[in-house]
Amino acid sequence: MSNASLAKAPQETTVLVTGGAGFIGSHTVVELLERGYNVVVLDDFSNSSPKALDRVREICSLDATDPQLSLIEGSILDRDTVEEAFTRFNIDTIIHFAGFKAVGESVEKPLEYYWNNIAGTLVLANVARAHGCKNIVFSSSATVYGETGKVPFEETDKRESPTNPYGQTKAMLEQILTDLYVSDDEWNVVLLRYFNPIGAHPSGLIGEDPQGIPNNLLPYVAQVAIGTLDEVGVFGDDYPTQDGTGVRDYIHVVDLARGHVAALEWMAAHPSGVEIFNLGTGRGSSVLDVIHSFEKACGHAVPYKIKPRRAGDIAECFASCDKARDELGWVAEYDLDRMCEDSWRWQSMNPHGYDD
Ligand code: WQD
Repeated sequence: MSNASLAKAPQETTVLVTGGAGFIGSHTVVELLERGYNVVVLDDFSNSSPKALDRVREICSLDATDPQLSLIEGSILDRDTVEEAFTRFNIDTIIHFAGFKAVGESVEKPLEYYWNNIAGTLVLANVARAHGCKNIVFSSSATVYGETGKVPFEETDKRESPTNPYGQTKAMLEQILTDLYVSDDEWNVVLLRYFNPIGAHPSGLIGEDPQGIPNNLLPYVAQVAIGTLDEVGVFGDDYPTQDGTGVRDYIHVVDLARGHVAALEWMAAHPSGVEIFNLGTGRGSSVLDVIHSFEKACGHAVPYKIKPRRAGDIAECFASCDKARDELGWVAEYDLDRMCEDSWRWQSMNPHGYDD
């Protein structure tokens, strides 16, 4: 079957969003719905909440039965579930977020990570192809650049071996999707390499809701600020950076979501191929920058203590984003203070995330 065409109005286009109830997924679904796209979310809620989709409907003023947003509950590993998505809906393109994503956990559970992330994507691509859909935007990560130390990272940089199985799954899936195109040039693949997504929708209705103790910096800082956790452990202050703490390219999750819409629009004009885009701000912020910015947002001190470096961390990681600007016409708009303000609003309105 020839590939589905994307050269049509959003109102005529149906996007399958795997992992659409997750942090980045739910924010992307909001942006898609607001532009008139029809959305089918496929999510097993293993690391997300169905409430996120209720909140998405609230933000977009959709009632529970509005056909613009549909849900299929299940795993991408389950072929029948994926088949259901393609038989019930005329899917034009896929935005593929579904996958396990905790770096530390991936070191302890490599088999679960390779099985879920790799095999799940193989099932998804196999079923999509059988239904004539060969358009996919893949949620990749700056972690595929490894620890080369050459910043800012550019799309033309070689993929280095990531320091953990999570990162390996991202690098392997980029290669698998590239090989799909090489074997069949009807495939239209966009690989989006995220840097550090943080923040929340300005309504405060959706945001990052990690399970258990957060692995990532921002949700940890937010939980200290709200009083759930006592103090932030700063993993090392002896890096060769401006203040000795780790530097990362933090990007507002709404900016990131809009980058996915820009990629869809770009794909409509570029009907086949494989293209990589960094989605970041091009600016690095240190751990202490983040803590101080969050203190401004919440209006009180956020206690922290310097701890030893965390294994696998690199000193600096930030993006060159010229390609996304020049080819997608996309630039991140929001700065670190806005990211922390929006994150604080979500956290203070939802002290226990979606469990409230
Ligand atoms: C940021 C900085 C830490 C926690 C990872 C993955 C990436 C993506 C985002 C999934 C570093 C420091 C952190 C803490 C700290 N994963 N830190 N105390 O490691 O840059 O990126 O998460 O989507 O693919 O690689 O993010 O938020 O864990 O760390 O000092 O309690 O904050 O050392 O410098 P990271 P992070």
